[in-house]
Amino acid sequence: MDGALLAQKVRTEVAADVAALRQRGVVPGLTVVLVGDDPASAVYVGGKEKASREAGMAGETIRLPATTSQAELLALVERLNADDSVHGILVQMPLPKQIDPDTVINHILPQKDVDGFHPVNVGKLLIGHTDGFVPCTPAGIQRLLGEYAVRTTGAECVVIGRSTIVGKPMAALMIQSGPLADATVTLCHSRTRDLAAHTRRADILIVAAGRTRLVTAEMVKPGAVVIDVGMNRIDDPTSRTGTRLVGDVDFDGVRRVASLITPVPRGVGPMTIAMLLRNTVRAAQRSVGA
Ligand code: GUN
Repeated sequence: MDGALLAQKVRTEVAADVAALRQRGVVPGLTVVLVGDDPASAVYVGGKEKASREAGMAGETIRLPATTSQAELLALVERLNADDSVHGILVQMPLPKQIDPDTVINHILPQKDVDGFHPVNVGKLLIGHTDGFVPCTPAGIQRLLGEYAVRTTGAECVVIGRSTIVGKPMAALMIQSGPLADATVTLCHSRTRDLAAHTRRADILIVAAGRTRLVTAEMVKPGAVVIDVGMNRIDDPTSRTGTRLVGDVDFDGVRRVASLITPVPRGVGPMTIAMLLRNTVRAAQRSVGA
């Protein structure tokens, strides 16, 4: 499944929505906040800023030192909450240890929380209200399933990983009633007994555990759809940089068994950014009642 190609299509759709908003004098604005100098986060944040600019949005990144206090970050969030030109606020995770992520997320106005991490948005997703924001990675995966006409209704969907960013909202999304959902969901995690017994039953297997080669061919049912959310950097002396990005799935083995599989890179990652743009345009549209 080509996530990069679909992401390009979504970004074109978003750009058209941005142009329509600009006609009405509204420029969708996304502000990304990066605290500290985690190299992976810096790469992700750079990609988000570039994509929002390319879609015609006002994209700003605020970089703060790793020594920033929680009070300083909360003051910045409050300033962005009050700024009408900012429709979406994203604070990149993880945060330095002196800052409590939940406290920060709770401070972001739910209507500007384009990550979908605020308890109001988490609650709306679980209830099935569609006027909140769905976290970008699960939303991108659902869109990929739709694009490739994967039948989710009644399907056995097994999710590995219980993070608040991916696993839990992914499960919440797939249990809803409606198109691209209506699945029977099993949520597995690090304490699951006999993981393979669960994965072998999956029609749709979504892996977001952060462990290289966690899923191998013998754990996958023939014909299953496999979504790999892993982003693991491993040593690779043959590459120019000495490292390489791999997922949680043994791609070369599993691709022989699965009917569809997402690669890493160019799978889920580009979709996450595309859905962030989608959520930001929604935030801007809602701010003017569009
Ligand atoms: N860190 C890893 N993924 C994400 C994401 O989707 N949003 C934010 N804010 N931080 C992240």
